[in-house]
Amino acid sequence: MTKKIALVTGAARGIGLATTKLFLEDGWSVAMVDWDHDELQRASDGLEHVIAISKDVSKPEQVDAIIAETLEQFGKIDALVNNAGVADFGPIEDTDFGRWRRVMETNLDGVFLMTQAAIPALKETSGSIVNIASISGLRASTLRVAYGTSKAAVIQLTKQQAAELGEYGIRANCICPGPVRTKLAMAVHSQDIIDAYHDAIPLNRYGSEIEIANAIHFLASNKASYVTGQVLAVDGGFDSTGVGLPALRS
Ligand SMILES: NC(=O)c1ccc[n+]([C@@H]2O[C@H](COP(=O)([O-])OP(=O)(O)OC[C@H]3O[C@@H](n4cnc5c(N)ncnc54)[C@H](O)[C@@H]3O)[C@@H](O)[C@H]2O)c1
Repeated sequence: MTKKIALVTGAARGIGLATTKLFLEDGWSVAMVDWDHDELQRASDGLEHVIAISKDVSKPEQVDAIIAETLEQFGKIDALVNNAGVADFGPIEDTDFGRWRRVMETNLDGVFLMTQAAIPALKETSGSIVNIASISGLRASTLRVAYGTSKAAVIQLTKQQAAELGEYGIRANCICPGPVRTKLAMAVHSQDIIDAYHDAIPLNRYGSEIEIANAIHFLASNKASYVTGQVLAVDGGFDSTGVGLPALRS
């Protein structure tokens, strides 16, 4: 059997790095992409069957180079995991256009560009796409005007991709993680937010990187061969509890 190839963006740390390691454990090779060159070098050092590509997924010419380098090294792409993301929380009135664009560039433009550039390769393998959105794309909240809107758009973009690319045998699905203690989350989660999440989530805890990676790996693999256009919240039950008022608990 020829080795499967995954391209994982935002692979230098957090959910992307855990996903990379899970694919490696399963015998895949991985193109690790991240714009943080030093962190990517540290993360990929000592890993076998990987290439490290230090590039920005929001820049069209760099995206083309990412796909070209992956194909040059590995010859094909079986799964594209659009995981790179930035979080910047703030009130609507304080979110100037620059801040809005910084979030949209990576979280939305990056997913659009990476997928579009990977389509010819994914056609060859009847490959799959897994986009990482967020519970913030499913449920609105304060401070997430840019982040939440970018993630809601990723959910819709996934459905567009599934609708249009299905005829090529390409599947597209979306994972919406709940809170995970990564650098991204810890930069925007105060202790109050952490406590409130514990209270509002039915499983009463944050998720782990590997719990998100397991779901990504499933959707990317042939085990999900008849699953496309789906949105899976991996969130300890947060999305299912619409009226999660503490006062309603016994
Ligand atoms: N951690 C959480 O609580 C949480 C919850 C919901 C969704 N998510 C989503 O999961 C994904 C992974 O987040 P994480 O928590 O592991 O964050 P993280 O900050 O630990 O990792 C994100 C990685 O993406 C890279 N990156 C950012 N912008 C990039 C760009 N333009 N080009 C290339 N690389 C870029 C960063 O350098 C970083 O290494 C993100 O899309 C995030 O929005 C995270």
